[in-house]
Amino acid sequence: MRTVAVVLAAGSGSRFGGSRPKQLEKLGGRSILEHSVVAFDRSPSIDEVLAVVPGYLVAETADDLISYRKVSGVIAGGAARTDSTKAAIGAIAATGITECKVLFHDAARPLVSQDAIARCAAALDSQQAAAVVVPSSDTIVEVTDGMLRRVLPRSELARAQTPQGFLFSVISRAYELATADPGFAQLAATDDCGVVLRYLPDVQIQAVPGSDRNIKITYPADLAVAEVLLSAEQQQAL
Ligand code: CTP
Ligand code: MG
Repeated sequence: MRTVAVVLAAGSGSRFGGSRPKQLEKLGGRSILEHSVVAFDRSPSIDEVLAVVPGYLVAETADDLISYRKVSGVIAGGAARTDSTKAAIGAIAATGITECKVLFHDAARPLVSQDAIARCAAALDSQQAAAVVVPSSDTIVEVTDGMLRRVLPRSELARAQTPQGFLFSVISRAYELATADPGFAQLAATDDCGVVLRYLPDVQIQAVPGSDRNIKITYPADLAVAEVLLSAEQQQAL
């Protein structure tokens, strides 16, 4: 089955700061966005890559990404991450495809491994959905109004990363139901598994083991960590 990677890069990077969105920052000579696109472009598990960027950056980004063999389009995202996912679903549907595998990835995770991509795509041979997760070494607690309310059982908790993969029919249906729900915007969903779990609770989402290296660049300090991780990896490759 055809596998499409959607690289979500339409955020504004408000926590990171700066005059341009964080995904355009350079990491080891290439933009964060380009690192993410390259990872999927070179994966044997991926047939096609679709980048989702802020509307005003579509032309500029398309110029940079068009040279990658599998990049089939650069489209405008929306105000919330879920709007950007919806834009990608619309673009895939517009090609006439009725079923395929779709892997959604945060462009802000430039160090995603080939292993994570391959495992996530392979999980979709037998499951309708799959997501890369890592165990939490910290104890996770519930905090409301500045007070600890509950200590959660660590053995049952994991941190969700991307890629998150779905059969196209499943993610399209989940978003169709979400769009019809007037309360959806209030949920402020930060990932696509959350949307599937809420609107299609019977869908099983396979947990695919990920790695702590697959960090999300959220604050400037994360970029410094990514530089160190990347140069350590380049040293190892020599
Ligand atoms: N994203 C997107 N469209 C949006 C919001 C986010 O495509 N409207 C993407 C981001 O570009 C990023 C990924 O989703 O690659 C994860 O989001 P996050 O790390 O929160 O990035 P931003 O939303 O840009 O940052 P912030 O929340 O600090 O503004
Ligand atoms: Mg955000």
